[in-house]
Amino acid sequence: MPIEYDPFEVRADPFPEYRRLREFSPIHRVRDGLWVVSRYDDVSHVLRHAELYSSSATRLMMMGGLQTGMQADEATLLEARRKKQQELGLESLLGTEEGWNENTVISMDPPEHEALRHIVNRGFTPRRVSQLEARIREIANEAVDGILARGKEFDLNRDLSMPLPVTVIAEMLGVDPSDADDFKRWSDVIISGITGNMAVAGPEQLLRTLHELAEYTLEIVADRRSHPRDDLISVLVNAEESVALTPVQTVDFVALLLAAGNETTTHLIDNAMLALLDHPDQLEEVRQDPSLVPQMVEETLRYDGPVQMAFRQATSDTELAGTKIAKGDIVTVIFGSANHDDRKFPDGDRFDIHRDTQGHMGFGFGVHFCLGASLARLEATIALETLLARLPNIRRTEDALDRVDSFLVRGPTSLPLCFEG
Ligand code: HEM
Repeated sequence: MPIEYDPFEVRADPFPEYRRLREFSPIHRVRDGLWVVSRYDDVSHVLRHAELYSSSATRLMMMGGLQTGMQADEATLLEARRKKQQELGLESLLGTEEGWNENTVISMDPPEHEALRHIVNRGFTPRRVSQLEARIREIANEAVDGILARGKEFDLNRDLSMPLPVTVIAEMLGVDPSDADDFKRWSDVIISGITGNMAVAGPEQLLRTLHELAEYTLEIVADRRSHPRDDLISVLVNAEESVALTPVQTVDFVALLLAAGNETTTHLIDNAMLALLDHPDQLEEVRQDPSLVPQMVEETLRYDGPVQMAFRQATSDTELAGTKIAKGDIVTVIFGSANHDDRKFPDGDRFDIHRDTQGHMGFGFGVHFCLGASLARLEATIALETLLARLPNIRRTEDALDRVDSFLVRGPTSLPLCFEG
């Protein structure tokens, strides 16, 4: 059976196609120079060999160079962007040829990746994350107070799963909480402008938004250099000279945190609630025994993860499961498919909070394993514990679901629910 699969198509339910790929075309050629890898062992092989499969592909994807179908090289993409910025009167604020996103941890390779990761990791140590727990509980409880005060109907996305991570990141970065609305707007535009079908944002709006974000962040960087506080930006810019981030790197990192850390966590909470509502017996079990929430969150990351795929670029001619991959080729690794592979997770399409989820790739795998994983786990666990403890008999009020405009990020744009009690 010939398989047609375009990784850049936005899909409501990609899982049947993933299954066909795994069965009939595990190393699938989409077009010249573009591959899709869908089995767990092959995805794991690619991610384990960063020297063979470079994250330069992430940079190309972030610059729109893969989605167009032409697979442009970096110099061409940079030049096109520079021209567009000039046209729009948005010349780089950063005093460098690089705009945002060329230098971020997610698009670098070892050994440079390791050095930068070591620096930004200071904001995400287990100690720093666990210090946030009490505050995350407070934010979740305030959100549920708001839901209770408004009546029996609510939108989980709008009322809890979206404001929680946005508020946490804003507070971590040490910015004014009233700026959280801008954060949400910026992260929506970045996700849709880069990984969507431009339903929310086209290329011009994306550039304007990145410019606005750079302006905003540079002002904070300047302030924290002269008036350090106990926040992440102060930690990153005021370390000893050799390990401090430059202003450009800080802007890039803040943009990455907004894009990588906000909407993803929102969707983890939403997708977990959706999976539970589709499996009422497991919902009841978790409600009766809240100690099951963390493993239910892990199973959601496996079963319906917010990040479905990543991209790598071959650094030399190589072979993957018997297929020849040429230097420069782009390899799409599908976490969502690896996570449903029966060879690794028996009956992989089934949601089961009691299964062994060890080794799931919901947060990626290898050197780029998600930096914010423990923060995201903590936020999702607290949000769902709070929700299930305080709102009895939660049900959906609508069958239809609008999904975010993204081939890469997976979750609903809103989740209307009601409760009784
Ligand atoms: C449920 C929520 C989240 C999911 C599913 C998720 C998923 C991922 C995945 C799959 C990767 C690997 C990408 C690759 O291999 O190319 C990644 C990397 C990353 N994530 Fe997350 N993420 C989440 C939340 C967060 C949060 C809360 C933050 C920070 C506040 C964050 C920051 C990052 C960063 C900085 C990287 C790059 C790490 C590196 O390249 O070394 N993520 N994430």
